[in-house]
Amino acid sequence: MATLSHRALRELILSFGGVSRLYAEMASCSALAGGGRFENYYVDTQPVPERTIVQLVAGSVDEFARGAAALAARMASGALRLGGVDLNFGCSAPEILRQGGGAAWLKKTDEAILAAARVRNILPGLALTAKLRAGWGGDPAALLSFCRGLESAGLDGLCLHPRLPSEGYGRPPRWDLVGLLARELGIPVTGNGDIRSERDADRRAGETGCARLMIGKEAARRPWIFALIEARRRDPSASMEIDLLETAERFVCLLEAHQPREFWKSRARRFFFYFCDNLHFAHHPRAAIQRSEGPREALAVFRAYLDANPDERMRIEGP
Ligand SMILES: Cc1cc2nc3c(=O)[nH]c(=O)nc-3n(C[C@H](O)[C@H](O)[C@H](O)COP(=O)(O)O)c2cc1C
Repeated sequence: MATLSHRALRELILSFGGVSRLYAEMASCSALAGGGRFENYYVDTQPVPERTIVQLVAGSVDEFARGAAALAARMASGALRLGGVDLNFGCSAPEILRQGGGAAWLKKTDEAILAAARVRNILPGLALTAKLRAGWGGDPAALLSFCRGLESAGLDGLCLHPRLPSEGYGRPPRWDLVGLLARELGIPVTGNGDIRSERDADRRAGETGCARLMIGKEAARRPWIFALIEARRRDPSASMEIDLLETAERFVCLLEAHQPREFWKSRARRFFFYFCDNLHFAHHPRAAIQRSEGPREALAVFRAYLDANPDERMRIEGP
């Protein structure tokens, strides 16, 4: 997730446990191929490279090929290890769509299949997946045909966030489409969208028969969500006690340790935007943090809130 799933958040999530695969922030193929200044950070797969997937975003088949070749060169030199590559066919941000990237690929089926096949050839033997939204018109047959094409191009799996690109995050995701792909495709299908609890996870996995689940925003709200789901699956009465201040402090330390200074402000604002949901009166600290100039200032706002509301510092995740 852009500005969110960088190494600092991933390390925080890993410290709680329960997660199997992680995704780095999406990396632009043209910047990768052109040697962009910050590309090392976008393809930083530490601390668990074999479980961390790099997501590529590009607007054309050639651009995808150049990005894949840049990754291949980094891997060949030993500078990069990774758990797989994911093609971004789902981003609906206007600036990405304008360049023909993300969900724009859902309108150009043949080219998308070609892009997948080209990347497949350049990176043989590496797990290759795609993440997509449900298509522009919401037609299940068109979605299935698009995904069958990707399967035939040699993808090892795909992840569906079953909303249309025009829907943002407003409308409920159409999980029946995840079930459709899980039934009809021969490759593992991951479902994603609005999973906020172990109940959501169990329900969606049960309803759809999908192979895996992906959690996005909730991983920033509650980086312990994966650990909680795992614990509750073992013991439905499992509980956790989380020190919110200590968690926020660790995030800021990790951010400063692993991200370039130029990223600190945007990444701190983005993380706390979601993390503030753990506070009863989130509105004021969240708004103040969105105006803050850096992680230490953001942390000071968060700490001041908890100083004024000490009973909120320990979050109890009860059964
Ligand atoms: C800040 C932000 C950045 C995102 N960036 C990406 C991205 O780079 N690539 C991608 O495939 N999806 C991206 N997404 C979408 C999420 O991966 C996910 O599909 C969506 O948030 C729904 O899942 P959730 O309800 O679990 O968050 C992003 C979402 C957010 C909120």
